[in-house]
Amino acid sequence: MKMWDGRFEKALDSRVNDFNSSIKIDRRMYREDIQGSIAHATMLGACGIIDKKEAQAICAALEKIREDLDSGRLLIDPEAEDIHMFIESVLTERIGDAGKKLHTARSRNDQVALDLRMYLKGEIVAIGNLIQSLVAVIVEKARENVDTVMPGYTHLQRAQPLTFAHHLLAYAQMFMRDFDRLRDTYRRTDVMPLGSGALAGTTYPIDRRLTASLLNFSAISDNSIDGVSDRDFAIELAAVLSITMMHLSRFSEEIILWCSSEFSFIELDDSFATGSSIMPQKKNPDIAELVRGKTGRVYGDLTALLTLMKGLPLAYNKDMQEDKEAIFDAVDNTKLCLEIFTSMLATIVVKKQNMRRAASHGFINATDCADYLVKQGLPFRDAYKISGRLVAYCIKQEKTLGQLSIDEFKAVCEELSLPCLFDENFYHAIDLQICVNERKVYGGPAYESVMSQIKIAEAFLEEKITE
Ligand code: ARG
Repeated sequence: MKMWDGRFEKALDSRVNDFNSSIKIDRRMYREDIQGSIAHATMLGACGIIDKKEAQAICAALEKIREDLDSGRLLIDPEAEDIHMFIESVLTERIGDAGKKLHTARSRNDQVALDLRMYLKGEIVAIGNLIQSLVAVIVEKARENVDTVMPGYTHLQRAQPLTFAHHLLAYAQMFMRDFDRLRDTYRRTDVMPLGSGALAGTTYPIDRRLTASLLNFSAISDNSIDGVSDRDFAIELAAVLSITMMHLSRFSEEIILWCSSEFSFIELDDSFATGSSIMPQKKNPDIAELVRGKTGRVYGDLTALLTLMKGLPLAYNKDMQEDKEAIFDAVDNTKLCLEIFTSMLATIVVKKQNMRRAASHGFINATDCADYLVKQGLPFRDAYKISGRLVAYCIKQEKTLGQLSIDEFKAVCEELSLPCLFDENFYHAIDLQICVNERKVYGGPAYESVMSQIKIAEAFLEEKITE
């Protein structure tokens, strides 16, 4: 028997019941549903819409139901239509007529919007904490590697020298922006829709602000149709999580490259790598690969939500029941990835010597060579030409720039009919550590700049999603 079976003459086909039911998905919101109902009943009592005593009985019974669900003494009926119906039916079974008054001035449409907002508010805070833990590990690893010179890349070609700390801190920036986006999403999720009713509000003299304050919401929705129809907050969260996953995926891709023997910049801890069933020598970066793979899945959730909503007329439509599976999947997988990625990163071994060796090949100080000549008084384009020709010469001779003699510099400059401004100071100027530490510009890889980036990231660790 359904609670809404008043106008129906036949029982529901059992396949329709299964098809229609969302209990498998929305059961996880039982605490939010109960908390929302307690606030609603309290408000109904305070406004004199139901008897105060009855309101108290409802609240006490709901607390008990929550306890019983937490402890496993009460099991969620898998045949129930959804979590809202299930809890209301247990309530009525337990306290009879008073229980039947809970749904006064409420619809499942504003109830489900409320539950989802409450649930996602909690998840946003939890994800924010996970992002902060990740940034804390990035900072720790950066501190250990402020002097670790490595090649920076463009087009995956060695480009200019920087430090591993500087490279890691680029990721700290991305995750700090993700946190900021989460905070924004939280603000728009923190709007209380109850009182919107099915779509047209209610005739009862309810106090929506009281309900909102009981549930710790900062605002109430301004339009009852929008109150029940809006799922922007879930879509926005899926978008923020997609961006976060994109960042995690890029980071994963680099981890995968770095632990290949071609790079050999890091080694994963045995506890975060896997072997092969056939090739005994293998140590695979499965975790990073799976994070990269799950990114596609979270994008899929975002696409599902956007597509779900694009053609829906106002107000509530049953299609919207599909929103939860997608947003829960995005939330679950992003949390999982953040957690495991953070632990994996915390245990990597950085092969500083290999990074340094890679930096000393590939002429990544060629720009610094040109800059040196500019400081000696040559226009940049001429300096660039000389440096380029020197690189070509070095490749033929199988030498590095630092291994050339002043006579060799002279010969190349003469060939280009350009003045030769090289002297002994040159060798110092193109030393990799010097090249890095001369890049003192704000945001650059020099020691001072990296330390100030670390300070920024450390200050971030004190921030909160909710002000
Ligand atoms: N299970 C439903 C959902 O998740 C609850 C709202 C049902 N409202 C309705 N009018 N059938 O969307």
